[in-house]
Amino acid sequence: MKLTSKLPLVGTTIFTVMSKMALEHNAINLSQGFPNFPVDSLLIDILKLKVSENIHQYNPMAGNPLLLQNISELIQKSYNRNVSPEKEILVTAGATQAIFTTIQALVHSGDEVVILDPSYDCYESPILLADGIPKRIPLDSNFLPDWQLINDTVNAKTRLIITNNPHNPSGKIWTESDVVELETLVQKYPNLLVLSDEVYEYITFENKHISAHERTILHERSIVVSSFGKTFHITGWKIGYLVAPEEIMLEIKKVHQFLVFCVNSVAQSVLADYLPKVDTSKLGEFYQEKRDFFRNGLVNSRFKLLDCEGTYFQLASYAIISNESDIDFTKRLITDFGVAAIPLSVFNADNADHRLIRFCFAKDNLTLTNAMEKLCKI
Ligand SMILES: Cc1ncc(COP(=O)(O)O)c(C=O)c1O
Repeated sequence: MKLTSKLPLVGTTIFTVMSKMALEHNAINLSQGFPNFPVDSLLIDILKLKVSENIHQYNPMAGNPLLLQNISELIQKSYNRNVSPEKEILVTAGATQAIFTTIQALVHSGDEVVILDPSYDCYESPILLADGIPKRIPLDSNFLPDWQLINDTVNAKTRLIITNNPHNPSGKIWTESDVVELETLVQKYPNLLVLSDEVYEYITFENKHISAHERTILHERSIVVSSFGKTFHITGWKIGYLVAPEEIMLEIKKVHQFLVFCVNSVAQSVLADYLPKVDTSKLGEFYQEKRDFFRNGLVNSRFKLLDCEGTYFQLASYAIISNESDIDFTKRLITDFGVAAIPLSVFNADNADHRLIRFCFAKDNLTLTNAMEKLCKI
């Protein structure tokens, strides 16, 4: 049998490789981005109650109506934007499915899609499956958009620009002037849409990020993606949502209908009940404490820590420790020192290696303390 791969360059992701190695060597896993502490007990209490109710059958395609309503209220509270629960919100199986579905619905053969590197790994493959052309552009040395490069790349064939703010892996937040540049760009290109990946929207520290929800110019031109997995420490539930103007949403729903039809009914029902009872504005403080704890613990290490303004990732340079490639260094970090991290080169199209690695600090304090002790010995 001759099987032609649709994604010939895709192999096992670095997240799987590092997590597997961490397990084999009994290393502390600060690689993959998931929390290892308990979820809110209120969420568990609601789950226990709800699970015995009649909530186990298909939901309406776009989502449980109460959840849609409560998402709309959350957006109103967080960003002062009115979105129609019926027409402008879609509950998805995590941000990953929101991104995949959006790209399949909007990108036609030969359309160009701008990705800003280093970038999360779920953007490029859906573009290739839609026969689109990924245009990967490096962010500047501060991990902010290089508008000169972006303006030189975007043209009438550019269908989408994918933005990620707060940014994984750098932890950077866009400035006001970056947002204004994006607005100028969409005004210049009437067919350009923004896929705004804001999964870390509530994990910000000294400054809040500016959401596409807050900018009227961007409303009509953006698909904004959120993740309950990131916001409520429930990455395994695989549930999130996207917000888009009705005309775009109609196309996205056509794909969603045949991809999943609807999302897990139990998770939707539990979250519908939980949303009005939880204060998402406290999440930043919670993670800021972890960030500061982790950064303070590494002050006397030989790692140079970069600024972290949001997300639960901390970038570190090991340039004064070793000349190894970042992949070799992270492998040795596991085998010789017992800590797993992610090499940054895997987030770049050309695997550009700047001797940077990414630690995830969404871990309990004991895990962080043990990791910090090991990292300080290097
Ligand atoms: C930037 C970014 N976007 C999307 C996702 C996927 O989110 P979800 O788990 O909700 O699919 C992640 C997960 O790590 C991420 O970091």
